[in-house]
Amino acid sequence: GVISLFQLQGLVSISLKKVELSVGESKFFTCTAIGEPVSLEWYNPQGERMVPSSRVALHNEGVRSRLTLYNANVEDAGIYRCQATDAQGQTQEATVVLEIYQKLTFRDVPSPQEFRQGDVAEVVCDVTSSPVPVVAWYYNNIEITEDTEKFQLLPNNNLQVQRVTKADEGIYRCEARVEARGEIDFRDIILVVNVPPVLSVPQLSFNATADYGESVTFTCRAYGSPEPDVTWHRKGVELQESEQYVMRARGTTLTIRNIKQDDGGSYTCKASNKAGEMQQEIFLKVFVQPHITKLRNVTAVEGSAAMISCKAEGEPLPEISWRRASDGHSFSDGDKSPDGRVEVRGRHGESMLTIVGVGLSDWGRFDCEALSRIGGHQKSMFLDIEYAPKFQTNHTIFFSWEGNPVNISCDVMSNPPATMLWRREKLTIPTEGTANMRVHNAPGRSLLEVC
Ligand SMILES: *[C@@H]1O[C@H](CO)[C@@H](O)[C@H](O)[C@H]1NC(C)=O
Ligand SMILES: *[C@@H]1O[C@H](CO)[C@@H](O)[C@H](O)[C@H]1NC(C)=O
Ligand SMILES: *[C@@H]1O[C@H](CO)[C@@H](O)[C@H](O)[C@H]1NC(C)=O
Ligand SMILES: *[C@@H]1O[C@H](CO)[C@@H](O)[C@H](O)[C@H]1NC(C)=O
Repeated sequence: GVISLFQLQGLVSISLKKVELSVGESKFFTCTAIGEPVSLEWYNPQGERMVPSSRVALHNEGVRSRLTLYNANVEDAGIYRCQATDAQGQTQEATVVLEIYQKLTFRDVPSPQEFRQGDVAEVVCDVTSSPVPVVAWYYNNIEITEDTEKFQLLPNNNLQVQRVTKADEGIYRCEARVEARGEIDFRDIILVVNVPPVLSVPQLSFNATADYGESVTFTCRAYGSPEPDVTWHRKGVELQESEQYVMRARGTTLTIRNIKQDDGGSYTCKASNKAGEMQQEIFLKVFVQPHITKLRNVTAVEGSAAMISCKAEGEPLPEISWRRASDGHSFSDGDKSPDGRVEVRGRHGESMLTIVGVGLSDWGRFDCEALSRIGGHQKSMFLDIEYAPKFQTNHTIFFSWEGNPVNISCDVMSNPPATMLWRREKLTIPTEGTANMRVHNAPGRSLLEVC
């Protein structure tokens, strides 16, 4: 008969009895049976029969079976059995104990690690191993042995630094040990402390006068770490270097050249770095010399109301006043002449001089003056009065005799000049004259020469 070799002890053996494997490693185990086994099967720690998969390979060759485990992970740990079965169905087995350990692995230890000044900094050292590692921290080669007001060793192995300052910058070493294996490794982490910008602005408001080619220079000093960038803004738009805007000293000064009225207003300097930003407003007041922009000659009909307007610009807005050249009398806003005929009203850089019932005496020059704290401007206008013709003489009887030519005069005042016509018994005498009459016209006077 057939001799069952399995009746004897120790007829199945595995090449290794106890194996330590680090995560990610691969290893194979050979199971050898003496005799003629019908089958050689492998069982995993969960007691399931093993079949080939992406990480498991099985290779049977006669009395040998080879199990290969690729890319081991922690869950692979346990007792693996190799079972031999003979023709009678008798089984025999051998085992191997697989221990999986994880080597020290620094998973996330960035360097440099940056923090904001004043914040609580958690310096990250994410290291794992199995068994779990013991982590020690060193700063400037000195071990941080216990929690202090400054440093706390956190349960997750990170190091907490209270209210970090520039003085805490440097190299921090995170060292991890696995006592059981004598395994040790470390990472050096550079700690960087960023300081948000602080601005120092010596002067917050400036004065300038427009149109005199003036320049002003604003200064915004910025401190911080890393060195802040300084930019200038106006009405929400960043100013660019140009003919008008000159930036110096890494943007910490802005010169505005050739100042005009519309350069007035607020400007903002903005300092920023990765830790934050700060901004400051600077105000530019632009003064503008008074300038009379509208003053016209006026013609008024005698007896009507004359309205003379004078408009002026400037910053500050000038006060407007009037001077009547004929008598040197001055009128300013709100003034009224004793007879109530002349009145001045003004608002927003415009003044209106009103004369009611204008007469010939109002004819003449008027001066408008615009005056502000920073200067003045004066312009003149003429008030012309139109009136219907007025006869100047009541000379109605002229004497002459035969053969003695005589000039009959007619003097008339009017504005604009009147045209004069002579009539004799309803018949108009033509201006070019007749056989015995000639017309001599001159401004304001017409002569009829009767021969
Ligand atoms: C600007 O002008 C105003 C008004 O005249 C004055 O009060 C102020 O002191 C001036 N500022 C500077 C910086 O000159
Ligand atoms: C206003 O009138 C004066 C005097 O008649 C004249 O010299 C001047 O040219 C006039 N100005 C305008 C703008 O018409
Ligand atoms: C002419 O006579 C009229 C009526 O008598 C008088 O009202 C007027 O003032 C006189 N004009 C002159 C210029 O003498
Ligand atoms: C009348 O006036 C005209 C123009 O002034 C002059 O030429 C003429 O000699 C005068 N006639 C007489 C008779 O005075």
